[in-house]
Amino acid sequence: MPVYTDEVALNAVEAQLAKYPPLVFAGETRTLKAQLAAASRGEAFLLQGGDCAESFSDFSADAIRDTFKVMLQMAMVLTYGAKVPVVKVGRMAGQFAKPRSAPTETKDGIELPSYRGDIINELDFTEGARSPDPAKMLQAYTQSAATLNLLRAFSTGGYADVHQVHSWTMGFTKGDNAAKYRDMADRISDALDFMKAAGVDSDRAHTLQTVDFYTSHESLLLEYEEALCRIDSTSGRPVAGSGHLLWIGDRTRQPDGAHVEYLSGVQNPIGLKCGPTTTAEDLKVLMAKLNPENEAGRLTLIARFGAGSVGDHLPRLIKTVQEEGANVLWSCDPMHGNTIKSATGYKTRPFDSVLREVQEFFGIHKAEGTIPGGVHFEMTGQDVTECTGGVRAVTEEDLSDRYHTACDPRLNASQSLELAFLIAEELSSARKEMQAKAG
Ligand code: PEP
Ligand code: CO
Repeated sequence: MPVYTDEVALNAVEAQLAKYPPLVFAGETRTLKAQLAAASRGEAFLLQGGDCAESFSDFSADAIRDTFKVMLQMAMVLTYGAKVPVVKVGRMAGQFAKPRSAPTETKDGIELPSYRGDIINELDFTEGARSPDPAKMLQAYTQSAATLNLLRAFSTGGYADVHQVHSWTMGFTKGDNAAKYRDMADRISDALDFMKAAGVDSDRAHTLQTVDFYTSHESLLLEYEEALCRIDSTSGRPVAGSGHLLWIGDRTRQPDGAHVEYLSGVQNPIGLKCGPTTTAEDLKVLMAKLNPENEAGRLTLIARFGAGSVGDHLPRLIKTVQEEGANVLWSCDPMHGNTIKSATGYKTRPFDSVLREVQEFFGIHKAEGTIPGGVHFEMTGQDVTECTGGVRAVTEEDLSDRYHTACDPRLNASQSLELAFLIAEELSSARKEMQAKAG
C-alpha cells in the first residue's frame, strides 16, 4: 500500500469519490455472477483480458476500441470453434494499481518509491513523480467512467452486432490466422443469411446485435475501492462500485490481510490468483472466507503457475477444492508465471510458454475430470512487440520496436487471435469429452 503523506488531501479525495456515482450497478454484477456460475458448470467460458496496467498517457478511444475488437474476435473464435457462449470481461476501466515486490527502487545510488501505477504515482525517476498523489484517484475514476461509457456504447450500439464479424479484423493481422479468421467469418455470415432466409433472424435479433461486456481489475488500492463501495438497495449488502469483477492478486492474498477482508464483504463476483506458493491450507481458509455460502459464480480461481509447473500445483489445489466441496470456476492466467528478462534487457513472455501453460491447464482438468472454465490474458489491440514468438514471430531484437506497456508485456492482436484458435481446439475437445461422459 502506498504511503500518502498528505492526509488532508487523501481524506478530501475519498470524500469526493464517495459522493460520485458508482461505475457499475449491483444488478449487472448479479447477471455476471450467474454467467460465471454457468461457466463453472461447463455451460459457458470466461474470456478475461486487457492491459497489465491502464495508463493515463495511452488513454484513447482507438486503444479501447482495438482491445474491445480483439476480444470480440477471440470470443467469436471460441464460440464458433467450441460451440459455447463466452463471458467477456475486460481488464479495463479501473486496472491502474500495480503490486510491487519491493517498496523502493535504487538507481545510481538514489533510492525512490517504486512506481505503483498511474492511480498512485508516476513512472519518471524523480522524487516528485514517485510521491503518491491522492488526486490521481480522481483522474482514474474519470478515465474509468469514460472508458465504460465507450464500452457500453460499443456493446449495445451496433458495433458488436455479429453481422459485423468481418469488420472486427485488425488491419495489421495478416497471415494464417487472419485467413483462418476470415474463413470462419464467412461461414458465420453464411449461417446468418440462412437464418434470415429461414425467418429465424428477427425475433432473436437482440441477442445477435449486442453483447454483454464486463469490467474487472485487481482490487489493490483499498482507499479507492472503499470510497466507491455502495449499498445495493435490492439486497441491502455492500457492492463494489469500481468494476463488475474484482480480483485479489498473488501478493495480497494473505487470509487475514486487508484485501481479503474487503472483498469478503462485497457481493460482486471475485477472483483469486493462485500461484506456486498458494498452500492447500490457505486456499481452504480463503474459500471459506470469500465464499461462505458456497455460491456458484462468486469465486473464480485464477491459476498462474508458469509453463512446466502447472502439474506440480494445479492437481493439489483441485484436490483441496474437491475435499471442501467448494463451488469455484477455474481460469488460467498463462502470463504471470512466464515473465522473463530477454537478452536485450526487456521484460518479455515467450508465446510458446504462454501456449504451453494453457495446454497444461486443459490437460490437467481432463485428467482430473474437472472443468477448465476460462482464461485470463494481458493483451492489447495495438500492434505491439512485447511478447516474443507467435506466427508472425517477434524476436528478442524486435522487442524494442514497439514496446509500450506501462507494466508487464502483453500479447498483440495477432498473438491473441492465434491463441484463441488454439484454445478453441482444446476447449472443443474438452467439451466433447464432458458430453461423452454425461452420456
Ligand atoms: C496482474 O494480474 O497484473 C498481476 C500482478 O498478477 P499476479 O497477482 O498474479 O502476479
Ligand atoms: Co501483469
